[in-house]
Amino acid sequence: MPMDTRPIGVFDSGLGGVSTLRSLVHVMPGEDFIYLGDTANAPYGTKKEEEIRDLTFRAVKCLIDRGVKELVVACNTATSAAAGFLRSTLDIPVIGIEPAVKPAAEIVGDGCLLVLATPATIRQEKLKKLVERYGRNTRLLPCPGLMEYAERLELEGPSIDAFLDRLLLPVRELKIDACVLGCTHYPFLKKAIEKALPGVPIFDGNEGTARQARRVLEERGLLSGKGEGGKVEFISTAGGTEKMEYLFRVPEGEGNGRCV
Ligand code: DGL
Repeated sequence: MPMDTRPIGVFDSGLGGVSTLRSLVHVMPGEDFIYLGDTANAPYGTKKEEEIRDLTFRAVKCLIDRGVKELVVACNTATSAAAGFLRSTLDIPVIGIEPAVKPAAEIVGDGCLLVLATPATIRQEKLKKLVERYGRNTRLLPCPGLMEYAERLELEGPSIDAFLDRLLLPVRELKIDACVLGCTHYPFLKKAIEKALPGVPIFDGNEGTARQARRVLEERGLLSGKGEGGKVEFISTAGGTEKMEYLFRVPEGEGNGRCV
């Protein structure tokens, strides 16, 4: 069996992609990963498409220079704005995360699906097409300001509760059957979102993206061949990586509300 021990590159505008990285490590425990957060330029989701594309391209160059064998764009915003461009430019496989509309729609059928994402993701054709194809009854809600709660590690508490109450006002009249977290920062805010949408099942694209990343490496004979012991390295364009390391290690549902 061919073996390729080069690392896998994982990219996000900041901390959010660490939620995807957790799934990637779960699905491929024997692979090495380099995680890059462009924290110095976050948030991406309130910027224009062209700027998001340029920032993404500039940032992932650092991963390419480190010799990664696959690039996982663990950012819905960067995937919608730049994945096509990255695929046409890079000679390694590029996997992009996208909102989990398809798996959620398979469960709720004609029920009402609420997609929370950044303004840039909501604007993009890519999401509109996904919704046209799978989500018969879908409401898209842009959430400017929400990713910042994850960046500050303010994962729970009165401030995010009040923020979510205001944010969800336009959809309060709807009977929501499922909610899709269309930004990789939001899984870290899941407890607060569940509190704001009691009883509503919540979906994210992390597990599906991780399985797809593994499938592509497998098909091309690029897996390391190791079953465990992979290493993870963090890089932030803003310097410190403590918050990334904290979110990577904290057990799900624990440590919420902590600030580091
Ligand atoms: N984590 C990113 C996403 O999945 C976006 C956050 C941002 O930079 O606005 O969309």
